Amino acid sequence: MSAPTDGRRDGGGEALCADGPLADLVGSGCTVPCVDGNERRAVELDQAASTQALPEVAARVAEALPWYSSVHRGAGFRSRRSTAAYEDARRAVLSFAGRDPDGPDIAILCRNATEAINHLAYRLRLEPSDVVVTTTVEHHANLLPWGRVARRRYVECDREGTFEVADVVAAIERGARPALLAVTGASNVTGWLPPIDDLIVAAHERGVPVVVDAAQLAPHRPLPRDAEFLVFSGHKLYAPFGSGALIGPRRAFETGDPFLAGGGAVDLVDLDEVVWSEPPEREEAGSPNVLGAVAMHAAIDVLGDIGWDRVRDHERTLARRLREGLAAIPGVTLLGPSVAGGADTLAVAAFTVDGMHHALTAARLSAEYGIAVRHGCFCAHPYVVRLLGLDAAAVATYRTEVMAGDHRGMPGAVRASAGLGTSPGDIDTLLAAVGALAGGEPAVVPYQQDRATGDFHPVTDAPGWSDAADGRGISCAGG
Ligand SMILES: Cc1ncc(COP(=O)(O)O)c(C=O)c1O
Repeated sequence: MSAPTDGRRDGGGEALCADGPLADLVGSGCTVPCVDGNERRAVELDQAASTQALPEVAARVAEALPWYSSVHRGAGFRSRRSTAAYEDARRAVLSFAGRDPDGPDIAILCRNATEAINHLAYRLRLEPSDVVVTTTVEHHANLLPWGRVARRRYVECDREGTFEVADVVAAIERGARPALLAVTGASNVTGWLPPIDDLIVAAHERGVPVVVDAAQLAPHRPLPRDAEFLVFSGHKLYAPFGSGALIGPRRAFETGDPFLAGGGAVDLVDLDEVVWSEPPEREEAGSPNVLGAVAMHAAIDVLGDIGWDRVRDHERTLARRLREGLAAIPGVTLLGPSVAGGADTLAVAAFTVDGMHHALTAARLSAEYGIAVRHGCFCAHPYVVRLLGLDAAAVATYRTEVMAGDHRGMPGAVRASAGLGTSPGDIDTLLAAVGALAGGEPAVVPYQQDRATGDFHPVTDAPGWSDAADGRGISCAGG
């Protein structure tokens, strides 16, 4: 195997920098096949989508498995043990969110942040005439559920994808008092951190409760204590076992129908009567995800052991290296807050390469360099449209194409995102690869774009990348 000389790196190659990751994740050091026939160490820079598991998470799940049983409804010893583990996880989730586990707030354990926000939107019993103030920075998970149950009033972002407290105050005061402010704790596209504590204070001063979508915030920064409602997901928190959390005051769930109706949520049922149990059980009909809860608990423990200061320092170093490095590459445009502005962001960067489709850039990074990133609009279409500065005509053009089943012209960007398992050397590997692509490095193999998904696929028989093996037609940019 000849040594790649073009910025591509051999599998198992040394990190380019002495500093390592803050924590190893399950699968760290795995190699992936590339279309030139080389195996390269997998560089996982899609941590904003889902993270690999912490080893402690995997170990705690393995320990819990022999004791796995139904919770809250079994008489056996295993069931007692599983129930205790599940309820311990609930308490850990509350503590992680800065809440007293014996205080007025409850944690409802659910599948993920999307489900948690839909759950809350159903449960708040808003009237169609009620207003939810939200922002153009949001992930679809914090936009679409509110549109179903109320009117939305938006806080616009500027060209850098940010807004100020005054913009939120103006939106709150622009008409009738809103029923809720629904705002993200951190952008999944640019990594921008809205001034969340100040937003909460401003909303409260105006009598408006707040839900914080903390899906991106939770793995990287302490959660805001004062928001009435908070949601996050285990799979972004190094605990990819299908769990998430909705936190809020018990009183918000004490009356009315729960989101899901069924077993486990009731005290009494007759054919024409139901007496719901007290929350949180009332909100968790059906068999809960015990192992997901155990996993999330383990991840919370590890984050607590590492400490936020170390997490923040590590990720600030990565963020600076990533964003400054990308901004310095000729032909690369970094979206979001400018590097010069010095805004505090997560180690997340969305960027475009001049003259290269975002889907092709992502496909080549994977197939030729072993670097995993995401491309597209990142489930935040309105935000990406604003970051790219697209006008109404451009939006109308791709809309017509998409409605006709053609996603090839869908706008978008490439996103690299880092976490505990990322080393500065991983960032350097990405920067070298993006530099090579932006500098006109010829592709190792031809690529074909799929009309239905907009994705590019290498045309090759290389192991792992042949038609039969590559999952052709599965969209990487969905959402
Ligand atoms: C900011 C933000 N909110 C919500 C979600 C939805 O999270 P989940 O897929 O866990 O439901 C995501 C996922 O990417 C996100 O980044």
